[in-house]
Amino acid sequence: MSIELILYLATLALHAAFVSYVVVGSAYVLARRDALAEQVRDRLPFMLGAAITAGVAPLLFVQLLHQRRFYTANLLLGPRWMAVVPALIVGFYALYAAKKLARRWPLAIALPCFLFVAYSWSELHELMQADPGWAAFYAAGDRVFVAATIAPRLAVLLPAMASGFATIAAWSAAAEDRRRLAVLAVLGRVVSAGGAVWLHAVGFAVSGSALAWLGALAAAVVVEIAAWAWVRARPRGPGLTLATGAGSGALLAAVVVREAPRLAVLEPERPLGEGWLAFALALVLGGVAIGWVVKTVYSSDRLTS
Ligand code: HEM
Repeated sequence: MSIELILYLATLALHAAFVSYVVVGSAYVLARRDALAEQVRDRLPFMLGAAITAGVAPLLFVQLLHQRRFYTANLLLGPRWMAVVPALIVGFYALYAAKKLARRWPLAIALPCFLFVAYSWSELHELMQADPGWAAFYAAGDRVFVAATIAPRLAVLLPAMASGFATIAAWSAAAEDRRRLAVLAVLGRVVSAGGAVWLHAVGFAVSGSALAWLGALAAAVVVEIAAWAWVRARPRGPGLTLATGAGSGALLAAVVVREAPRLAVLEPERPLGEGWLAFALALVLGGVAIGWVVKTVYSSDRLTS
């Protein structure tokens, strides 16, 4: 496994955690009026910022790993693909409006924007691998790629996000809210498992060592469900720590399983050449810039406290 692939998988898992909070958190705030919903509403703008920032690293790695496929799919979708940018901008401002006005209704604008972005990533993911159809797609001037696998992919991913949201939200939630989040997390896992059966039926399959990862994913989900049952029975007990550990393991195993069918079409590795110098320089400059930001934040904190 190349270092780019490992970093791609790790950073994609981080992106998925934040995205889960944003998508399911927006739905939760729309659906409920309680103290937890208010807390989530106020955290959503920050979490979207974190989700987008955490998306940059896997975006860079996926271009290294699947250069030709990624750029071709981008070009084929063209303006249709670029529509994710205004959708994110509208979603971002809607989250801020919800927080500033202390109202829920802007989330009715934000949520469809985020679902559109999620759909678009799945569409692009499938188009990247549909190379036999690229020429006909281009010749027909199509801008929307239709594949039988897109809906079941979302049927796996969106409910699984419920468990990610529940895990992050539960840490700062009151005991009664933790009980409700436990139910949401388990329901999400069950519906997502149904989605996985559908996805398999339309052709998603893994083999070889990826089967071991699939086994690890299933085992982690079973432990996670048991841990959520424990949280429901004893919301302040150690169940949440176990659910978080098992859920994180399930997320890591899931990103590996998701990637498995694409491993056969990875770009051949290129020698780094003189590129290492630019990389090392960027690493040092990036480290210094981050250190400077952290120092500035800490010193301004001291001034205001
Ligand atoms: C609220 C906004 C977003 C949502 C809801 C979202 C959702 C998703 C989903 C559902 C997937 C998995 C698609 C699949 O496997 O079928 C995905 C993958 C991905 N996302 Fe995001 N995403 C968001 C924003 C972003 C942004 C802004 C970036 C980049 C800066 C990004 C980078 C990525 C990358 C690189 C992948 C992997 C693509 C691949 O491997 O084919 N995402 N995202």
